[in-house]
Amino acid sequence: MQCLNSAPRSLLALPVVVALASLWICRAEVGGFTACSQFFYNKQPPTGLKSEGTAQICQRYWNRYHFASLYDRRRRTPLYSAYVFSPEGGTRPKINWMYEPQLAYSKAGPDMMPFPRGPIDQNVVESQAVILDYTNSSYTRGHLNPSLHHSDVGDKNATFTLTNIVPQKEGSNDGPWADFEGQTSSLLTKHCEKEAYIVTGVIPYETDHWIKHDRVAIPEYLWSAYCCPSYRVENVPITNLTLLGLSTLAAIGRNDPNSTEEIVPIDKKKGKRWRGYDVRRMSLKTLEMYLKQRYGSAISIFDNGCSL
Ligand SMILES: *[C@@H]1O[C@H](CO)[C@@H](O)[C@H](O)[C@H]1NC(C)=O
Ligand SMILES: *[C@@H]1O[C@H](CO)[C@@H](O)[C@H](O)[C@H]1NC(C)=O
Ligand SMILES: *[C@@H]1O[C@H](CO)[C@@H](O)[C@H](O)[C@H]1NC(C)=O
Ligand SMILES: *[C@@H]1O[C@H](CO)[C@@H](O)[C@H](O)[C@H]1NC(C)=O
Repeated sequence: MQCLNSAPRSLLALPVVVALASLWICRAEVGGFTACSQFFYNKQPPTGLKSEGTAQICQRYWNRYHFASLYDRRRRTPLYSAYVFSPEGGTRPKINWMYEPQLAYSKAGPDMMPFPRGPIDQNVVESQAVILDYTNSSYTRGHLNPSLHHSDVGDKNATFTLTNIVPQKEGSNDGPWADFEGQTSSLLTKHCEKEAYIVTGVIPYETDHWIKHDRVAIPEYLWSAYCCPSYRVENVPITNLTLLGLSTLAAIGRNDPNSTEEIVPIDKKKGKRWRGYDVRRMSLKTLEMYLKQRYGSAISIFDNGCSL
């Protein structure tokens, strides 16, 4: 936690009391998941994902918390975002991209902010990805927490912070990964009785690949898992997918057609546009095994494997 960074004059327009209080108790929204533990199953964040050089962000927008992200400061992308699913409703908002002021200045205000039109503060540029990083990069801005997994407009809006975004090939973002997000949404809407907790993250390359010269690391794969502790079994079509995924389901999606096929095989019959961007559904345990291989430590995404 960086609690004693000096803030520029413009950001010191906070009430003196708040500024002093944060010196002592460091109550920044970047610096712990305590204020947003409701977005994790049993209020427990995933364990085992490397925490060195990361910031725990309680994603706050207009005075309210909407989800949580573990942000990798060196790679300038989230490692994962965790949220509570709600059935789809409404359209994708037209909203400006936002950034996280507290990554740049620990004493800045707690809400995510839209990027300014003009020049961007150098500490913001150093501390996180900015819009220009993605311009002409050949990668789209891929949401980990997608706006279509929410019905509340504030929840949707809040997903448009670049601290929830990773470089994702269009073939994945508009193809198999989008299909997977949609199928997850209909499955949970039909069969999940209460809360469904979703964690979506990245698997980095063994040796990092970057856009814009070491600015933003490209993930080799995206992964996702849900935990729906209380589900309806009536009328469930008995397909392999639902057998696999009533209380939990996981998946890994390719973000690079050149990757080997050990983790996710390529369907050679797919049209050219989507070929090499397959998503493989799998059990939570299988996903955790692959994450362990790449991250080098035992990973547990949901407390007690999502059992009650
Ligand atoms: C992006 O590419 C276009 C077309 O080549 C070019 O006109 C534009 O200046 C580039 N923008 C940036 C920010 O590099
Ligand atoms: C969502 O964003 C749109 C576009 O900026 C804005 O008009 C609207 O008021 C926002 N709604 C909420 C609930 O934050
Ligand atoms: C369903 O599972 C059976 C047995 O494991 C397997 O042979 C079959 O290919 C699976 N079907 C699909 C559509 O995955
Ligand atoms: C895959 O390899 C080809 C040929 O080496 C290269 O042109 C392309 O950029 C690579 N794709 C990605 C996503 O790295």
